[in-house]
Amino acid sequence: MFLTKKEEQMCNGEFGETIRKSMDILVALGDIYGASKLVDITSAQVSGVSYKTIGEAGLEYLEDLAGDGLGVASVNASLNPPGTDLDNWKELGFPEEFSIKQNKIVDAYGKLGISKTCTCTPYLVGNVPRFADHVSWSESSAVAYVNSVIGARTNREGGPAALAAAIVGKTPLYGFHLDQNRNADLVVNVNCELNGADFGALGYIIGKVVGSGVPYFKLKNTPDNNDLKTLGAALASSGSVALYHMENVTPEHKQVDVEEVEDIMFISEKEILKTREELSTTDREPDLICLGCPHASLEEIKKVANVVQGKTIKNKLWICTSVSVKATADRMGYTEIIERAGGNVVCDTCMVVAPIEDMGFEVIGVNSAKAANYVPSMCGLDVVYNDVENLIQFE
Ligand code: F3S
Repeated sequence: MFLTKKEEQMCNGEFGETIRKSMDILVALGDIYGASKLVDITSAQVSGVSYKTIGEAGLEYLEDLAGDGLGVASVNASLNPPGTDLDNWKELGFPEEFSIKQNKIVDAYGKLGISKTCTCTPYLVGNVPRFADHVSWSESSAVAYVNSVIGARTNREGGPAALAAAIVGKTPLYGFHLDQNRNADLVVNVNCELNGADFGALGYIIGKVVGSGVPYFKLKNTPDNNDLKTLGAALASSGSVALYHMENVTPEHKQVDVEEVEDIMFISEKEILKTREELSTTDREPDLICLGCPHASLEEIKKVANVVQGKTIKNKLWICTSVSVKATADRMGYTEIIERAGGNVVCDTCMVVAPIEDMGFEVIGVNSAKAANYVPSMCGLDVVYNDVENLIQFE
C-alpha cells in the first residue's frame, strides 16, 4: 500500500507510540485487503466498549494505548453502547463492580479523544457524515445506516481498526469506499405493505440470503428513518450486510442498474408473518420489555409515551437510547410519562451488551430482529418478538 512521507513517519513512531500502533493496524488491514492507499475520513464510530465483551484485557489495552497522551482522535468520533447506564446504573439495578469497570473503559476512550456519547445511532446525535464522505464505523447497524441512508462510505470495521482510524484520521481505501463495490447483488420485491416489526423480519430473511452482498429493495409502502434503521440492523445481524438500496428512498438507488441484477426474490406477507413468529423463542410473557435496538429516536420514545400514558405497565420496560436523545425526551415530558407508567428510559447501554442475564430477567420482549437474534446467544435468555403495542401489558 502506498504511504506518503508523513504516513511513513507515523509508522516509524515519529508522532508517538499511540499513532505508531494505530498505523500498524491500518497498514496491516490495507495490505490484507489490497488497498491502494489510505484515504482521509471525516468521522469514526468505535465499537468494542462493553466490559461484557472486551473484559479486563480490553480495559488494559485501552489504558495502555491512552498512555502517551499524544495520539487522540483527529476526527469526529463517538462510542458504541457500553454495558451499563453510565450515570444511573445504581438506580436501575446494574451490577456495581461491572459498572465501575465499564466507566473506566469509557474514560480511557475519552482520554483518546473519543466522545463519550455512547450510542449505536450516532447519526441522530451529532456524528453525521455527509453524502460520499469516507468514514470508519464499526457498529454493524450503524454501518448499514451510514452507507445506505446517508450515502457515506465505510466498511464494517472492527473496533480496533475504527479506533486507529479515528486517531490517524484515515482508513485503507478498499471495499465499500469504492464505487464498483456499491452495486446491488439481489433485487427484493416485497408483495405486501410493511409496518413496525415487519421491517426487522424482512431484514432477517434477506440478510440470511444475501450474506455480505448488497440487496436492492422494492417496497409497496415508503419506510421512514426508524424503519430503515430497524431494517439495516436486521440485515447486518442475520447476514453481514454493510449497504442496501431502497428504491426511491436511499441516495444511491438511482446508480444501480436494476435490469443488470441477475438475482431476484419475491417476499410475501406469509413469509413475513412466519419469520415474525420464528424470531420468538418462547410463548412465555416477557419480564423485561427492552426497546431501542438500534438506540431509540425521539419519535420512537414519543410513540411509547403515547402507548403507556396514564396506565400502569405490568412487566418492566426499558427504552434504550443515548444521553442526548434522553435529554430531549426529558424536556418534552416523555420520560416522565414513561416513568409514571413504571418504565425507564435507559441511557448508553442496550439489552445485548448489558449483563441482563445477571439481573434476574428470563424472557425479554423486543421489537428488533437484531435483538431477537442476539439476546438468546449473547445473554442466554428467551425472547418474544413483536410490536411495541403487543409487547407491553398493563395492570
Ligand atoms: Fe445497538 Fe445494542 Fe442493538 S448496540 S443495534 S441496541 S444490539
